[in-house]
Amino acid sequence: MDRTLVICKPDAVERGLVGEIIGRLERKGLTLVAAELRTLDEATAGRHYEEHKDKPFFGELVEFITGGPSMVMVVEGPGDTWKVVRTMMGVTNPKEAAPGTIRGDFGLLTGQNLVHGSDGPESAEHEIGIFFPSP
Ligand code: RTP
Ligand code: MG
Repeated sequence: MDRTLVICKPDAVERGLVGEIIGRLERKGLTLVAAELRTLDEATAGRHYEEHKDKPFFGELVEFITGGPSMVMVVEGPGDTWKVVRTMMGVTNPKEAAPGTIRGDFGLLTGQNLVHGSDGPESAEHEIGIFFPSP
């Protein structure tokens, strides 16, 4: 089986969309294998979004993602799970995300785009290790 990291970001938690997002993933056939509601601290957010640390929006991104509880999850499927989740999420800018996707159906702002999904097999493994380290 193949796993990826999914985060319902603080805007999704605040708007009561966690059930909707998990429901979509489950109805697709993916399985939840770990989940925890937690408020990310700055260090964890910085590790998670390390690839963006030199981008102009990094400060805003960390402030947003640490600003309230997120639902952090590991999701499992038969293969290419990261890609399945990314397709279901829609593109980064919710204004451009296709209807039928999570961002396309529920979002309007890039800075509040509801959900995170790992962007490849290596980042899935890396990110699962950040949030759910194996003993
Ligand atoms: P994510 O990592 O959260 O799943 O989102 P993503 O792959 O679709 O997009 P990514 O390029 O990794 O960007 C991470 C998050 O940073 C914010 N962002 N703001 N103002 C901007 O131009 C801008 N670009 C990206 C978004 O919240 C994005 O989800
Ligand atoms: Mg990303």
